[in-house]
Amino acid sequence: MTRPAVPPSRMPAVPPRILLGPGPSAAHPRVLQAMMSHVIGYLDPDFLLIIDEVSDLLRRVFRTDENLTLALSGTGSAGMEAGLSSLLEPGDTVVICASGFFSDRMIDMAERLDADVVALRSEWGRPFPAEMLADELKRRESVKLVTAIHAETSTGISQPMDDLARLAREHDALFMVDAVTSLGGNEVAVDRWGADYCYSATQKCLACPPGLSPVALSPRAHEAVKSRKNKPSSWYLDLALIANYWGFDHVYHHTAPVSLILALREGLRIVLEEGLEQRFERHRRNAAALRAGLEALGLDLVSPEGYRLDQITPFWVPEGVDEAAVRQILLREHGIEVGRGLGQFAGRVIRVGLMGESSRPEYVLALMAALEKILPRLGYETAHGAGVSAASGALSDSAT
Ligand SMILES: Cc1ncc(COP(=O)(O)O)c(C=O)c1O
Repeated sequence: MTRPAVPPSRMPAVPPRILLGPGPSAAHPRVLQAMMSHVIGYLDPDFLLIIDEVSDLLRRVFRTDENLTLALSGTGSAGMEAGLSSLLEPGDTVVICASGFFSDRMIDMAERLDADVVALRSEWGRPFPAEMLADELKRRESVKLVTAIHAETSTGISQPMDDLARLAREHDALFMVDAVTSLGGNEVAVDRWGADYCYSATQKCLACPPGLSPVALSPRAHEAVKSRKNKPSSWYLDLALIANYWGFDHVYHHTAPVSLILALREGLRIVLEEGLEQRFERHRRNAAALRAGLEALGLDLVSPEGYRLDQITPFWVPEGVDEAAVRQILLREHGIEVGRGLGQFAGRVIRVGLMGESSRPEYVLALMAALEKILPRLGYETAHGAGVSAASGALSDSAT
């Protein structure tokens, strides 16, 4: 069935929204402004200086001295696929630490590469247990790659990385980390972890529009890509070829998305002007207020204390409440976007994102006030004002 055509006169303008979903989050006005500058050539000597600056800024945000840092054309999934398709050759063993929707995506990608895929699946909504990886690696002679998700957006888990990284290293495997939701909002410590390949996305804590995937590639991983027996199946996402453009020689690969790279430069400058630690603290403070407000409304959080992500907070939708209606009324009547549950959490969970420019106290309070109006309408009674009061109390406590 085809959709009826909407006449041009009835086409909606882009409405203003408060973006509290899993991404995109709000783009900073300076970032939008940067995208309005002239377009220049991707091999223009002045643009190449900009590329070098972006690479330097990324090194600071990824907390790495030695890695090659660059931004792939494409969203976070491009970063995921570039890593898997460049690092794995057919038959190589990859061990995937999986406890959410995005690790399932990794498994699907790795299987398409004819790799020997070992999917270690653990319970959703709990951190991945390092012992599971340790046991698996003990049983295996040779593992090319171990992968893990630092910030699992589907479950709201902040995964401790140090043990997983150590185990991969002790087994002489490369270590790949998904930092799509954490980079710029939570510490991503590429050098401390010894991560060989770490990728992110621009539309979350970096406060840019979607379209680029910043990555950090270790010298060891770069060498592994360059010394493959066969070319990777993807030409466009071949990290060796892309590294030649972002590296010293700036060799043409494909037309770089100039305006998005200018946006990313501005986004990274803003991150570093605020200061990484200050930015992490802001994300912590606002997430704590959000949790206090949700709990005061009697809503149960999915992730356990100690492992909660500050970037995204999933909560269980109370029995009998239509979760799609909650999201729809939030959007239509309050202009607030929140996220639906994914995979096994679909229909049962709502996810609230507070990332980058969207992590603001006033948004937390606006969401609380809206939920206090909507939930009783849908059959779930709450104590009037409890959510706003608890969130506002948590914000004042953290300010003193
Ligand atoms: C943890 C994680 N990994 C990968 C992705 C895929 O990123 P994208 O949608 O930018 O392709 C997402 C998207 O939300 C994510 O949250």
